[in-house]
Amino acid sequence: MKRQELFYKLIKIFLRTGLSKQHAIISSKAILNAELVGAYGHGLSRLKMYCDRINKKVINPKPQIKIKKISPSISLVDANDSIGFVAADIGIKEAIKNAKRNGIGMVGVKNSGHYGLSGYYAEQAVKNNLIVLIYTGAPPAVAPFGSLKSLFGTNPICFGAPTGTKIPFILDTSISMINRGKIRVAAKNNQKIPEGVALDKDGKPTTDAEKALNGVQLPIGGFRGSGLAWMVDILSGVFTGGNHAGKIKDPFDDFSAPQNIGHLFIAFKANIFMKDFKKRIQKNINIVKKLPKLKNIKKILYPGESKYYRYQNNKNKNIKINDLTKSDINELLR
Ligand SMILES: NC(=O)c1ccc[n+]([C@@H]2O[C@H](COP(=O)([O-])OP(=O)(O)OC[C@H]3O[C@@H](n4cnc5c(N)ncnc54)[C@H](O)[C@@H]3O)[C@@H](O)[C@H]2O)c1
Repeated sequence: MKRQELFYKLIKIFLRTGLSKQHAIISSKAILNAELVGAYGHGLSRLKMYCDRINKKVINPKPQIKIKKISPSISLVDANDSIGFVAADIGIKEAIKNAKRNGIGMVGVKNSGHYGLSGYYAEQAVKNNLIVLIYTGAPPAVAPFGSLKSLFGTNPICFGAPTGTKIPFILDTSISMINRGKIRVAAKNNQKIPEGVALDKDGKPTTDAEKALNGVQLPIGGFRGSGLAWMVDILSGVFTGGNHAGKIKDPFDDFSAPQNIGHLFIAFKANIFMKDFKKRIQKNINIVKKLPKLKNIKKILYPGESKYYRYQNNKNKNIKINDLTKSDINELLR
C-alpha cells in the first residue's frame, strides 16, 4: 500500500475511535514510522489492540492532559490515560523546551500507555542538538534474575546524541534477549523464535512463540540485564507515579483497567561542557569505525545507523501489509 494511503487510513481509523484529529495524526505518524524502520512488532501489528483498548474505555480518547511545572527544568505530565503516542509526544516536546531554555530538561509522564519506539522520540531531541535519555515501563515479560515469574517489562533503554551528520547516534534497546513484539509477530505467523531467549511456564527453554508468551523472556546478560530492567522500572514507574513492580496491564490480554505506564525523558544541551561536542563525537566515532574488523563484518556501525538506512530505503516504497493486518484494517474501516 502507498505510504500516504496507509497514513490516511490510519487517521480515519483513529478518528472513528473518537481520537481528536491532532491525536489521530500523532498516533498514525508513530505507527507509520515503526513500519518504515522495520520495527513491525510496534507498528501495524498493534493497531487493532489500540482501537480495542479505546473502545473498551481503557485508553481515553479525549484525555485532559495536565502538565505540572515543578521547576523551570522539570515537569510532570499526567496523561489521563491517553494513547501512549500522545503522552510521549507531549513529554518529549516539554523536555526539549525545558532543555533549550535551561540547559537541561527532565519530564516524567504518568497515566500513559504503550508509546511504540523510544528512539522515535529521541530523534526529536537530537534534531534540537540535545543529548537525551528515555525510559519507559512495559508489561511483565522478563523474569528478574533467579525468578521463574515475569515481572519486569522489556523496559527499553534509550540514549540519543547528535553526531554532526544527518545520522544520529541512537542506542535504543530493550533489556530482554528478544523484543516481546517480535514474539507476538512470530506467534501470529506461526513462526519459531530463536533459541536462548525465552523459557516456557515450567522454566524450560523454548523456541515456541506461544509458549514463550505464556512463560518468561530472558534478560540480556543475566543479572546485569535484570538489574538494568529494575533500574528502568524504578525510573519510569516508582519515580514518575506510573505503575511498576509488574502492575502494568498487558495491552493485548487485559482490558480490566488502563495501563498507567510511566515514561521519563531527560534532555540536555550537547555542548554544555565542551563547545566543540560535535567535532569530538565525530572523532570518537571515526576512531571506532577505523578499528580492524572481524572477517564477516564489512562496516562497523554505531547504534541508530542501521535504522536510519532502513528508513531511507523504505520511505519511498510501498508498505507491505500481511493478510492478518489487512483484515484488521478492513474490519476497522467497516
Ligand atoms: N514501548 C515499549 O514498551 C517497548 C518495549 C520494548 C522495546 N520497545 C522498542 O522496540 C524497539 C526495538 O528494540 P530491540 O531491543 O529489539 O532493538 P534492536 O535489538 O533491534 O536494536 C538495539 C540497538 O542496537 C543497535 N544495533 C543494531 N544492530 C547494530 C549493529 N550491527 N551495530 C551496532 N548497533 C546496532 C540499534 O541501533 C539499537 O540501538 C526499540 O525502538 C524499543 O524502544 C518498546
